[in-house]
Amino acid sequence: MTEPVTITRDGDIAVLTLDNPPVNAMSFHLRAALATALETVRQDEGIAAVVIACAGRTFVSGADITEFNTPKAVASPTLRELIVTLENFAKPTVAAIHGTAFGGGLELAMGCHFRVADSRAQFGLPEVKLGLLPGAGGTVRLPRLIGPQKALAAIVSGNPIGAKAALADGLVDAVYEDGLVEHAVAFARKAATAGKPPVAVRDREEKLAAARADLAAFDAQVADVLKKSKGLDAPKRCAEAVRNALTMPFDEALVAERRFFVELVEGDQSKAQRHLFFAEREANKVPGVGKDDRPRRIARVGVVGAGTMGGGISMSFVNGGIPVTILEMSEEALKRGLGVIDRNYGISVGRGSLTEEAKAKRMAMFKGTTDYADLADCDLIVEAVFEEMGVKKQVFETLDGIARPGAILATNTSYLDVNEIAKFTSRPADVLGMHFFSPANVMKLLEIVRGSKTAPDVIATAIAVGRQIGKVPVVVGVCHGFVGNRMLGARNAESEDLLLEGATPAQVDKVFTDFGWPMGPYQMGDLAGLDIGWRTRKSLGRTAAIGDALCEQGRFGQKTGKGYYLYPDGRTPVPDPEVQALIVEKARERGIDRRDLSATEIVERTMYPMVNEGAKILEEGIAIRSSDIDTVWANGYGFPVGKGGPMFWAEREGLAKIVERLDHWYGRTGKEVYNPSPLLRRLAASGGSFADVRKAAA
Ligand code: 3HC
Ligand code: NAI
Repeated sequence: MTEPVTITRDGDIAVLTLDNPPVNAMSFHLRAALATALETVRQDEGIAAVVIACAGRTFVSGADITEFNTPKAVASPTLRELIVTLENFAKPTVAAIHGTAFGGGLELAMGCHFRVADSRAQFGLPEVKLGLLPGAGGTVRLPRLIGPQKALAAIVSGNPIGAKAALADGLVDAVYEDGLVEHAVAFARKAATAGKPPVAVRDREEKLAAARADLAAFDAQVADVLKKSKGLDAPKRCAEAVRNALTMPFDEALVAERRFFVELVEGDQSKAQRHLFFAEREANKVPGVGKDDRPRRIARVGVVGAGTMGGGISMSFVNGGIPVTILEMSEEALKRGLGVIDRNYGISVGRGSLTEEAKAKRMAMFKGTTDYADLADCDLIVEAVFEEMGVKKQVFETLDGIARPGAILATNTSYLDVNEIAKFTSRPADVLGMHFFSPANVMKLLEIVRGSKTAPDVIATAIAVGRQIGKVPVVVGVCHGFVGNRMLGARNAESEDLLLEGATPAQVDKVFTDFGWPMGPYQMGDLAGLDIGWRTRKSLGRTAAIGDALCEQGRFGQKTGKGYYLYPDGRTPVPDPEVQALIVEKARERGIDRRDLSATEIVERTMYPMVNEGAKILEEGIAIRSSDIDTVWANGYGFPVGKGGPMFWAEREGLAKIVERLDHWYGRTGKEVYNPSPLLRRLAASGGSFADVRKAAA
């Protein structure tokens, strides 16, 4: 184990190097060592100024999240105490920042008199993403440095600020291309000889004056930034705390911030969001894939099919810096596909999130072709053609003939058997599923489908490249619909019957949005297009009384202006009396007496089957661990993050209660989605947890 803090001297400047791998989190042992080191340099009369730097890949990236809700989190010296020590230090203190100064790390840096940074450094207070607010003075100090408006935006979003912007905004005092610590020492020496005492951030009030004079304008900004807070408590508390920085004296605002922090850190939402933080990282650990399974080099990606998914997938790779060769069946289809990509980037330019120059650079990274031979130099080829085994067969046989040895062949299939697809090639070890979600350039989830023959380094490569392009990869096994769509099927299994028995689409959808989902199942159906399911049902010889009738009337959802709802402005769903009449009519035809359905019943008949399917998936080893299922749902389907994903939520809800209600509905309907999985039944009976179950993905 390395020393958590080492003191080195450069003349009369002390450099305190913090070292707590991997991200220099402010764990108790680091805090204790820093307190001791600060006391040493305080007493040393030969030291004129202090630089605080970090070893390894980053500056302090936050408080130690694993200590939260444990005695260590509040053990002295706390981060707040250290910051007070730094702020009152008689000798100038300079934070030398590289990597990420996040959360408590940025708060520590703001406790210093000065901050200097590497030009690649990033700064942020991402606590809101963990259901928290900055709890060591961030909400009170950041507004003093960069002004309350910018601080509000940064704290409520949790999004990082780059070094250039940090310099322009006054968050840092200098930025260097290289030689950070040497520059920081020179900076500290200059500060020590400046002849005036350093000013603590707490005493800098000049940037607060304008907002203090016009609180109404600030409140309007608060209302605006909170629009996206989706029933979460943390963003509101963040905004309130920044407002307190304007309306209260420094120390009072600090006390109020602490009160909010304690309330949030003890609350269910933050625990759920922290569960998701660690779940996302745990998902990268795959049994059978070790350190020796080094990712293959991916310098160019091929994408087959430039439709809805192929276009979005290509954009994801290009956005992540990897050039793409995109193949279509005809010049016309290729032109259409590339045209959609161009328009999508154009929208970003219109919104100001991309410059024309950056757009041109990205477009130059696409190479369009109709000739498979052009894919011969690709290291990874992702197939996104029609969802038909015959078409996939033809594509994979062709790819097998042209792809270079060692190239990885991936399918984006939603439901088809990846093992069968792998058999169309002579290299099943190099084949896997890479299942993106629509819109693929936006959605973060990437289900990596491990076939029975997929090589471990192929899985490692898919995880690495997925992370490189900003996705959240989750490795799953082969089954119909994998993890996400299979559970979605269970969640929606009662969609028809709920309506026939007495609910309305708007009522069910409201239960979902009240729960925290961005939208309910009928709004989602209308958005995705009802004709997709209709076509699938027809091909399988299945029917759905209401869904089929809507499609027969040409009501395909938003794209036709009507589906379960009307869309007078093209986007906003409005309940349609004609749909209501249709539902009543279909119920009458079937002799169903419609009745009032409660919100509780709707939850039990949608979300409990989803949890039950999740338990089956876990039991079969399709998911490695229950937290992977939560990661899938939070990143691909809008499961409310404040509830931590379906499996985490189910344990809060009570597994015994869920089993009891599943039994009830199974008894009433005989539908298999309600038949409790043996695992669920066992855990409910023993008081066990999903977290105890771990299997290799099948
Ligand atoms: N505490 C404890 N562990 C942490 C941590 C933290 N703050 N941040 C990261 N880790 C762990 C991860 O769990 C992971 O562990 P593992 O290897 O066992 O899975 C390891 O560090 C590496 O993390 P990543 O895989 O995320 O590494 P990356 O290089 O991709 O990203 C990072 C680095 C950008 C720093 C990213 O880890 C991150 O965003 N961390 C969280 C930052 C954060 O939220 N800070 C605020 C914390 S709350 C706080 O400070 C409260 C204060 O206001 C009082
Ligand atoms: P799409 O119909 O929009 O696009 C398919 C494209 O493939 C078309 O442009 C077509 O011209 C092209 N194509 C067909 N055969 C080809 C061939 N032999 N060679 C080259 N190009 C060919 O379909 P979409 O929605 O993009 O779906 C593609 C795949 O992605 C399917 O397997 C689907 O199940 C899967 N998927 C779809 C999602 C969605 O929400 N649409 C989500 C996740 C996966």
